[in-house]
Amino acid sequence: MGVKHLVLDVNIIIDWWLNVGSAEATHSLIETARQRKNNRLWVVASSIPILDFVARRAFKQHGKTPKETQQIVARLIEQLLEDVQVLSNHGFEQADVYKVAENFEDAQITAALRSLPKGQVRIITENTDFDHLGEVETLTPQAGLAWVTGETTLTGSIPFIDLATQQACLRPQLERSIEGVLRHGQYIMGSEVSLLEAKLVAYTGAKHCITVASGTEALLISLMALGISAGDEVITTPFTFVATAEVVVLLGAKPVFVDIEPDTCNINARLIEAAITDKTKAIIPVSMYGQPADMDEINAIADKYNLPVIEDAAQSFGATYKGRKSCNLSTIGCTSFFPSKPLGCYGDGGAIFTNDAVIAQACKEIRVHGQSRRYYHTRVGVGGRMDTLQCAIVLAKLARFDWEVEQRIAIGQRYNQLMDEAGIQRVQQRNDRTSVFAQYTVLVDNRVEAEILFREAKIPTAVHYPVPLNEQPAYQHLCCTDCTPIAKDRAQRVMSLPMGADLNEIDQAKATEILSVNKQTPAT
Ligand SMILES: Cc1ncc(COP(=O)(O)O)c(C=O)c1O
Repeated sequence: MGVKHLVLDVNIIIDWWLNVGSAEATHSLIETARQRKNNRLWVVASSIPILDFVARRAFKQHGKTPKETQQIVARLIEQLLEDVQVLSNHGFEQADVYKVAENFEDAQITAALRSLPKGQVRIITENTDFDHLGEVETLTPQAGLAWVTGETTLTGSIPFIDLATQQACLRPQLERSIEGVLRHGQYIMGSEVSLLEAKLVAYTGAKHCITVASGTEALLISLMALGISAGDEVITTPFTFVATAEVVVLLGAKPVFVDIEPDTCNINARLIEAAITDKTKAIIPVSMYGQPADMDEINAIADKYNLPVIEDAAQSFGATYKGRKSCNLSTIGCTSFFPSKPLGCYGDGGAIFTNDAVIAQACKEIRVHGQSRRYYHTRVGVGGRMDTLQCAIVLAKLARFDWEVEQRIAIGQRYNQLMDEAGIQRVQQRNDRTSVFAQYTVLVDNRVEAEILFREAKIPTAVHYPVPLNEQPAYQHLCCTDCTPIAKDRAQRVMSLPMGADLNEIDQAKATEILSVNKQTPAT
């Protein structure tokens, strides 16, 4: 499960530099760990001045001049930092280990390790004092090598979405980015906001990006920018998170639900035209589970009736459709940076994308209470800004986003292969687009029994979503309830499995095995 984290103690690094003691094993360990994607090497920030001090003293004792010593040590530390990441000691004074540790150096290392996922961390050291603290296991460099290369999986339950491993891998970038905001103190509309918008424009290829307070706010502001109001109709899917239709109702308009495709669970483009009336003002397809819908067909129908299309891309940031990026597939694209989304922040956040300068300007104004300039309100708006800290977090997360998208696609395909071999029905993907698998979702006939089996195996599952929106108590009076039979059926049968860029093959196989057992279990 997850990534193995190896934290190098000072003594190990010094021996390696001086080529004494366990230097050879440490060298092999670092080389091996570097080459494996499921390992991370760390040095705690407080160890660096100690390394500097001890190394200088050692080289001086070996007869080097102060100038030579300075150059050698600076080069060694620089090289070290190419191979290992720096783990910070923030909050050390709040950790009580320093009261019981042999010295402050050990206490600082131990306290810093608390930010890494428990059970997945080992200190590489010859110093057994750490063992008395009972917080983290220690390994010699030789034992560390065996741990890294061994097939032993880490114990513990599988997280549904492994944000802890992602955070551990991005810890230095995240801390640097957050620290930057704390230093300049512009918590609203700080420089990170426009920097993120520029990066997202470059990523998606859309001309404009407006960051907003959440995915829900992105949809609401987009509809407001298009002038959707009471009496209007907006065509969408009932098989989605409630926010897609909620914003339509909030504006006094009516969601008109069109059924989904049985295989992808996306809106069925062939059914849209029949739902268009004189009151129709927009179409909102949802890129469900991370895969865009039939956007060419939907855009063609929309063009025929002169309607805007808003892609609800809350689950699909990073996906592509015929080579183009999700969020840049129609009039407007809206995404969410909710923490569990493919690109998530550590709170609420979202973004609107468009190639239309007039819509972009309207969205920008609506996001700040309809202001065109300070305290001059040209239209009715909302308080819908994404705060600077959340933008800083997304900026840090971009550091490994391309890799994560590749991993998600590969892991989704591996799941597909396992499910197909085991004869388990699953949501399908089309060849002309990619899914970022915000969820990996299968179809089961006896979901209650399957949930029990997964719970017993300590593997979390979820249902996205158990009730179609046209059957929800707050919405059923607005629309027909039995008009979307495929959505109704899928709501009873879908089940999402653990998914994420750091998910390993063993856990995927375990989940598949449970589904195979469940297939043999009669439904109650
Ligand atoms: C399809 C869909 N639309 C909209 C949203 C709303 O996004 P947020 O939670 O950021 O408001 C979500 C998030 O769960 C979603 O999955």
